[in-house]
Amino acid sequence: MAQVKPKFYLTTPIYYTNGLPHIGHTYSTIVCDTIRRYKRMRGYEVVMTTGTDEHGVNVERSAKKACVPESEFVAKMAAEWRALWDELGVQGDEFIRTTDLKHAHTVQWLFKQCRDNGFVYPGHYTGQYCIYDNAYVDVKPGENCPDCGRPTETVTEANFYFKLSAFQKPLLDWYAKHPDFIQPEARRNEVLSFVEGGLRDLSITRTSIRWGIPVPGEEPHVFYVWFDALTAYLSAVGGPQYEKTGFWPADLHLVGKEIIRFHAVYWPAFLMAAGLPLPKQIWAHGWLLMDSAKMSKSLGNVVRPRPIVNVLGMDALRYYLLRETVFGQDGSFSYDALVQRYNSDLANGLGNLASRTLTMIEKYCASAIPNPSDSAAVSEDDEALDRGIRTWAEILTRDESPQGVAHRYGQFDFSRALEAIWSFISAVDVYLTSTQPWVLAEDPTKKERVARVLYTAAESLRFVAVLAHPVLPDSTVKLWKQLGQTNPIGDQRIEVLAWGQLRPGTKIAKAESLFPRIEKQEAIERMEAMESEPQKPAVAPAASGNAATGPSGAAAQTAPEKIAIEDFAKVEMRVGQIKTAERIIGADKLLKLTVDIGSEVRQICAGIAQYYEPDALVGRKVVVVVNLAPRKLRGVESNGMIVAASVGPEGRPVLAAFTEDVEVGARLK
Ligand code: MSP
Repeated sequence: MAQVKPKFYLTTPIYYTNGLPHIGHTYSTIVCDTIRRYKRMRGYEVVMTTGTDEHGVNVERSAKKACVPESEFVAKMAAEWRALWDELGVQGDEFIRTTDLKHAHTVQWLFKQCRDNGFVYPGHYTGQYCIYDNAYVDVKPGENCPDCGRPTETVTEANFYFKLSAFQKPLLDWYAKHPDFIQPEARRNEVLSFVEGGLRDLSITRTSIRWGIPVPGEEPHVFYVWFDALTAYLSAVGGPQYEKTGFWPADLHLVGKEIIRFHAVYWPAFLMAAGLPLPKQIWAHGWLLMDSAKMSKSLGNVVRPRPIVNVLGMDALRYYLLRETVFGQDGSFSYDALVQRYNSDLANGLGNLASRTLTMIEKYCASAIPNPSDSAAVSEDDEALDRGIRTWAEILTRDESPQGVAHRYGQFDFSRALEAIWSFISAVDVYLTSTQPWVLAEDPTKKERVARVLYTAAESLRFVAVLAHPVLPDSTVKLWKQLGQTNPIGDQRIEVLAWGQLRPGTKIAKAESLFPRIEKQEAIERMEAMESEPQKPAVAPAASGNAATGPSGAAAQTAPEKIAIEDFAKVEMRVGQIKTAERIIGADKLLKLTVDIGSEVRQICAGIAQYYEPDALVGRKVVVVVNLAPRKLRGVESNGMIVAASVGPEGRPVLAAFTEDVEVGARLK
């Protein structure tokens, strides 16, 4: 009889649709996806919910500004969020939109339960409201929101109130009985003191906005967005019929720290009022900071995930976010650190170990996993070296070993889990350097030793592939295939990984670079350039889990689209003449130019420094795209673009030029 798997239900926050994802949002989702994959590899039947939070005044206003109906606006945005998660290899099982009908029914049902149980009453609210956080705030008119610092609005309206005040004691009792309910400790303390300070009843419907789920029989009331949004966690797994799916209560709500109160106070109170089971744990992660401030659209300091995925691949972003930030604390983002990590840990670390090992197996073992048991005569020293690797590999898989990857994943200590895997990778590298199979291979009497050493390295790679899979879903699949494995890697069970399961004789695939090295500056310039391109409108969802490419493949993946003549006409190109040209310190590839375009002289940065001497450019006539939005390259403002052909495999730039003399400022058509 098939064994019944234990169930595990986890959720990301559902994202506001009045903006597009940046890597702060991406962080919430990637963490959840990593946990999802890890739990699956521990034998759980996992459901992960993500989705979009589509109601509220903010969306109402954004749609109005875009001159489209709200429903059309949110449909496009939801498609964009969903497509991005696909590109990042996120395996959401449920994508819930708060405009889904099943969700509306669940919200209305939950309200009825709370009301029937005597926890809802009609009233009036007059006070300040923060439309950005969707929260009623306790400040005077004219004062800003105490949480996000943005202006508040005075709201006077009829509402239904939820008797939150009745839940102070039940909540405190619950927190006391379930000490792990709120994590980490600092957030738990924050919530405790908030609740101990007393709870005021909460308005859960609004009459001053239209774009929301209607309160049945009470129009024009619509639900307050947080009452609406939190309920998405329940609507995704059966709503009123949650018992049938067996996925409620949730095991884990993963959220950013600024929304902990909604999750750890309001949500359990709503559920208690309705007589429903409470989630088991709420984990609040820290923020991704950029220039020491929370990355957010309103501050304009956001970094988008797509340029990173296009240049370095999705695994690089996933690895960086989980490796650099201690889970639960704030972390800083920098392109520099990102590319540094990519080159040192992924290209030189895992990528190099994999290609080294597989190339040697190809060369010395006819592309088949060698047989380690053939090595009859190994010295004691050799035996100790081999045993060292074997024991280390096994420690990584055990829950009881605090140095182990399994143990650290279990505690959501991703950064240290990855640290453990990468220390092991270094140990295997050292092992190869000290055993020197390429030297042994020259000696026909050492064949068995070569086989044992390369088996050890390949088996280590198999462990690494399985253990790193939750974080690096794309490259570990490639590595898995390169090792000749055919069962899906995601179906492997971490706790049963045992040394020696790699079968000798298995044919390996050709070694292909998992993470091609990339020149730091070039990578940063490419990402920054893509970042400053205008955001694309919503796109059709990409093929699941695989839109990411390595450093060279991004452009080749998207089929060229035909454009109309009007589209071409939007690009304004003019003849310009270079007035000055100089190098930029710290940017080997860039030249800072001033270019006369007829109507004015512009400063433009061009990535041609390795092929053109600055002095030789002065006076030269070039083609300039003059209506590009200005952007900064390596901190230098660039106002336009010089047109060049990209020649040869390395993409050498050759400036577009004219064979006849042309007037400065002439338009190209
Ligand atoms: N819609 C609400 C959540 C409702 S859940 C029932 C919301 N949406 S949000 O789009 O503003 O934020 C969603 C998640 O992204 C939150 O967990 C938030 O913490 C996270 N992040 C947004 N910016 C972030 C950073 N700069 N850093 C890390 N995470 C951040 O709130």
